[in-house]
Amino acid sequence: MTQVLSANRNASCAAAPPQDEAGVAAPGQERGPGASRLATRQQDRSAIRADGHRPRVLFVSHTGTMSGAELVLRDAVRPWPGATAYLFEDGNLAEALRDAGLTIRLARRGTGLSGLRRDASVLRALPVLGQLAGLALDIARAARGSDIVYANSQKAFLLAALPARLVGRPVIWHLHDILDSAHFGRIQRIVQARLANLCAATIIVPSRAAAEAFVAAGGRPTRVTIVPNGLDLELDPKSPAALRAELGLPAGPLVGVFSRLAPWKGQDVVIDALAEVPNLRCIVVGSALFGEDAYAAELRARAAARGLSDRVLFLGQRSDVPRLMQAVDAVVHPSVDPEPFGRTLVEAMLAGVPVIATDAGASSEILDGGAAGTLVPPRRPDRLAVALAELLADPDAFAARTHHARDRALTLYGAAGMQAALAKLIHETAARA
Ligand code: UDP
Ligand code: GLC
Repeated sequence: MTQVLSANRNASCAAAPPQDEAGVAAPGQERGPGASRLATRQQDRSAIRADGHRPRVLFVSHTGTMSGAELVLRDAVRPWPGATAYLFEDGNLAEALRDAGLTIRLARRGTGLSGLRRDASVLRALPVLGQLAGLALDIARAARGSDIVYANSQKAFLLAALPARLVGRPVIWHLHDILDSAHFGRIQRIVQARLANLCAATIIVPSRAAAEAFVAAGGRPTRVTIVPNGLDLELDPKSPAALRAELGLPAGPLVGVFSRLAPWKGQDVVIDALAEVPNLRCIVVGSALFGEDAYAAELRARAAARGLSDRVLFLGQRSDVPRLMQAVDAVVHPSVDPEPFGRTLVEAMLAGVPVIATDAGASSEILDGGAAGTLVPPRRPDRLAVALAELLADPDAFAARTHHARDRALTLYGAAGMQAALAKLIHETAARA
């Protein structure tokens, strides 16, 4: 399902000189040494479109680690075998994209960029500037062999936008973040929105919350399209009790949190809430994927300090999330800052398990304003504890909501719908270039 924020989607980019339909520079346009090269590129690409060929897509990602955005990319590329992925580093993503039939082009000097934190100071970033320049040149070379560049992350977009435009290729930015003050500093928001206005023909976001934040940061509403994340889940027909036995999970009241360990994901709030709900256990699934090891250690210390070490079970990073979800009494989604989307919400809905989520970012959109799950305010362990206690006291009272959630997820958040919507945008953007 695709929702276009505005019908007027002008793909012009300040980095690209105005041209007529044949790709010739507009009257009065200065014709420098690059002009004829540009005209040749335009003819090449017109020929590709006239032949009805699919655009050659260059997918760009800055990290090889699989979190939500990379899992979305893994599913999004399925209809694009033969496309190329330019990856800043090797890893699970490269393997998954190779399996999908993509050609992997690894940046020779990209490794380690995903470790550069969003709030890194300019001084800390300086040593990597040479590396970034090398990457930009490499991306420009890769972009030249493609018709369109699809940047799947903020860092990928920042690095790929100008090189792609300089070689005349249109850019799609799949923005998986919420550009608000909780996640980014003011300057970062301004730079990202301005660069998007300058260089991105299309910005794809997974939710209305993400679209609104982009526009509030100064991004042009006419370029934004909402494509909700879509995924399919293979469910295990076994009962929750049988699954628990197989998975080595305890009997009795049990909830789960299924997110990477990071302060904004709010696992600490669940531990605090647990202290107020006797006998309730919680599995904490996920690990510190992007260097948040101090937070991971703090979570364990917090559980111990509250006397909950035997009730908070840290399972680490798992590849069997759907089965684990099916085995628990409820999934808690406790993000303390606005969530751009939250695949785990949809996974829980598809698993047919009650969801309790914080009302921040996209949760309310996904959970139908609370009709498909329980919404609680973020950073409020007391309110979460009340919601948990209510659920455990009368699980049947949640059955209708959980059914509605599953139907809703099947209708709105399937992988095929997402793939079709993304393919349409890729074709449209390439055709407009
Ligand atoms: N996930 C996983 N194993 C884990 C923890 C999480 O496979 O141990 C998956 C989870 O099922 C979901 C994704 O990681 O598909 C997280 O995506 P989400 O959009 O919820 O959040 P993100 O981490 O990208 O912010
Ligand atoms: C990001 C967001 C998450 C979203 C995922 C896929 O990792 O934090 O909310 O679901 O991207 O779009």
